[in-house]
Amino acid sequence: MSEPVTFRLLLTVLAAMLAIPAQAGPEEDREAFRAFFFKRFPDVPPDAYADGIYALDENARRQWEEIEEFPPYEFAVEQGEALFSQAFANGGRYADCFENDGIAVRQNYPRFDPQRGEVVTLELALNHCRTANGEEPYAYDSSELIALSAWMAWTSRGRKIAVSVPNDPRALAAYEEGKRFYYSKRGQLNFACSDCHVTSAGSWVRADHLSASLGHPTHFPVYRSKLGKMISLHSRIYGCIRDVRARPFPEQSVEYRNLEYFLTYMSNGLPANGPGARK
Ligand code: HEC
Repeated sequence: MSEPVTFRLLLTVLAAMLAIPAQAGPEEDREAFRAFFFKRFPDVPPDAYADGIYALDENARRQWEEIEEFPPYEFAVEQGEALFSQAFANGGRYADCFENDGIAVRQNYPRFDPQRGEVVTLELALNHCRTANGEEPYAYDSSELIALSAWMAWTSRGRKIAVSVPNDPRALAAYEEGKRFYYSKRGQLNFACSDCHVTSAGSWVRADHLSASLGHPTHFPVYRSKLGKMISLHSRIYGCIRDVRARPFPEQSVEYRNLEYFLTYMSNGLPANGPGARK
C-alpha cells in the first residue's frame, strides 16, 4: 500500500470511530425510560409510578385506597419484625449482616457485590446472613423470607430508590444482561416485558389494565388479594413469563436478579413504598 492510501485509510477509520456515539450508560437509559412515560402520561406525577397501575387507573385507585386503610400486608410486616429481631442459635443477628442494622436499607437493593462478583438481592442477602450464621437458608417462596423482606421494605418507606451500578465491568455486564432480558421477545406469544409494560402501558389486555414498568419494583413484596397471600417480585415476574407461555426461571436465578437490577435502576429516585397490595 502506498503512503497516501494508508494515510487516507487511517483518516477514514478515525472519522468512523468519532462518528460512533458513546454507548448509552445506565443513567442515559434511565432518563430515556422515564421520559417515555412522562410524555405518554403528562398528567401523572413522577412519584405516582410507585403505585403501579393505580397511577394510571383512577377507578382502581379508589378501590385500592380503601384496601390500604386496613393494609392486608400488615401481618407480614409484624411477622417480619419479630423474625428479624430474633437471634440465631449462634447469637448472631440479621442486623449484624446489614448496614445501619438493616433499617431503611431496602432502597439500596439489589446491589452488585464485588466479592461475589454478582448481583445480590435483598432476599439473597437475608439467606447469606442465615448461612453465615449456621442457619439453613429459607425457600424463596417461604412466608418467613417474604415477611423479613416486608419488614425491611416497611422501614424504607419514603426513601428514594438508589441502586448503583459501580464502575466495575462485571456490574455493567449484569446490568446489560438484565436490560437484554427485559427487551427480549419470549414465549409462544412472543412478547417482551417492554411490549406490555412500556409500549402498551395504560392499555387493556382482556380484563387487565397494564401498568408501566417505571415503579414496578418499588413496592415489593406484595399482598395479592387474588391469591390471598404475599408474593415476591420474582414470583410476579415468573407469572408474567409463564403467561406468555415461555419457560420461567426459578426465583433468585441469575436471570431474574440481573433483570431486577436493571428494572430497579430504572426506578431510581422514586419513593420506596413497600410492602404493597395488588389485585
Ligand atoms: C402479555 C403482557 C405482559 C407481559 C409480556 C409481561 N407482563 Fe407483567 N403484567 C402483566 C399484567 C396484565 C399485569 C397485572 C396488571 C399490572 O399491574 O400491570 C402484570 C404485572 C406485572 C408486575 C406487577 C406490577 C405491580 O404494580 O405490582 C410486574 C413487576 C411485572 N408485571 C413485571 C413484568 C416483567 C419483568 C416482564 C418481562 C419478563 C413482564 N411483566 C411481562 C402483563 C404482562
